[in-house]
Amino acid sequence: MPTAEENTESAGKAYRIFFAIWPDNDAQKQLAELAKQLRLESLCGGRKIKAENIHLTLVFVGKVYPDRLDALRDVADSVNQSGSLAFDLVIDEVRYWKHNHIVYLAPGKVPQELVDLERALRDTISAAGFPLEQRAYAPHITLMRNAFCPALPELVEPVAWRVREWTLVKSEQTSNGSVYTPIGRWSLETSNKP
Ligand code: 2AM
Repeated sequence: MPTAEENTESAGKAYRIFFAIWPDNDAQKQLAELAKQLRLESLCGGRKIKAENIHLTLVFVGKVYPDRLDALRDVADSVNQSGSLAFDLVIDEVRYWKHNHIVYLAPGKVPQELVDLERALRDTISAAGFPLEQRAYAPHITLMRNAFCPALPELVEPVAWRVREWTLVKSEQTSNGSVYTPIGRWSLETSNKP
């Protein structure tokens, strides 16, 4: 099967693409406030992520040419047809990756639904001929880049929200930083809980 790149060299400019989960409005505010505090307290220095850009990546696909986007949406449709359920995501740990100077938040306990969704998406994307990096999934929400953290604060209160949908996102670098645009959206079933 041809790869995305072999298929589409002539199909115009490639986009940078990933699947992600965005926080709901309340969680977004809390996460943005945390980024602000980390910055203000000069705990780590660095550059905070803008509120509207704060997210949790499901699968980073990378370079995709426009004429392959529908194939990626078909992948998402087929994964979604398996009827994955909405789930609660509780973000309760602040962590730091020294090697790339990223301060991020993570769930202390990773929900099984998240593990299953990531695995199903990854397997189906690969089977559709999109080459993916082979990396263990480390669910995280980047809050700061270029940070240097001698110490990290504890989260006083976890940030939690009910994950009801996931999105396909196009990432563009502009003079104003990264701009993320949703180009597809899939709902998780919410029949079990109100
Ligand atoms: P990060 O926040 O740790 O950089 C868009 O770039 C999203 O995809 C970010 O959440 C980023 O994670 C994630 N991502 C995963 N693998 C990536 C890669 N190889 N290059 C760029 N971003 C990647």
